[in-house]
Amino acid sequence: MKPCFEHTSRSPAQTLALGRALGRGLRSGDFVALTGPLGSGKTQLIKGLAVGLGVPEDEPVVSPTFVLIREYVGHLTLYHIDAYRLGGAEELFSLGLDEMVAEPDAVVAVEWADRTPEAIPEYACWIDLAHVGEEARRIRIRWADRERLADFRTRHI
Ligand SMILES: Nc1ncnc2c1ncn2[C@@H]1O[C@H](COP(=O)(O)OP(=O)(O)OP(=O)(O)O)[C@@H](O)[C@H]1O
Ligand SMILES: [Mg+2]
Repeated sequence: MKPCFEHTSRSPAQTLALGRALGRGLRSGDFVALTGPLGSGKTQLIKGLAVGLGVPEDEPVVSPTFVLIREYVGHLTLYHIDAYRLGGAEELFSLGLDEMVAEPDAVVAVEWADRTPEAIPEYACWIDLAHVGEEARRIRIRWADRERLADFRTRHI
């Protein structure tokens, strides 16, 4: 079983802060796979990732549901993908996933990653969000890289 971190976020701001702490520690080639129902906060968390990656805060991070992929440029490029409307992993590959993953100085974050499990690399950081109240969300992070997860814990205060 992958090492796990669990946290209850009590507001959109707290989810943003968690994403920012994770984003600060991301490195070229990282892959973040997000799961959780509609409105659970996947996009909100990715907004935080973008801030942590140095994307200017006035650049709007919005759901790519209709355009499928958005690209933000900070210290690293963030490819934000929404797999909600994709037929499956093949469609993700045809959008150029392999190229995005292999691109230097880039990271990939996929919402609804459980819809395209074949496309998610083994080393991905998995984040599952669940509603536990009006504004409360349980956020569970699983990452095979124990050291990176431990490092994130120290940054997330
Ligand atoms: N603790 C919280 N963390 C994140 N979002 C929260 C929280 N409490 C309330 N919200 C609200 O829940 C909504 C989360 O929306 P968001 O677009 O991030 O969800 P999503 O998981 O990406 O949904 P979708 O599957 O439709 O893409 C926002 O309206 C946000 O303000
Ligand atoms: Mg979303």
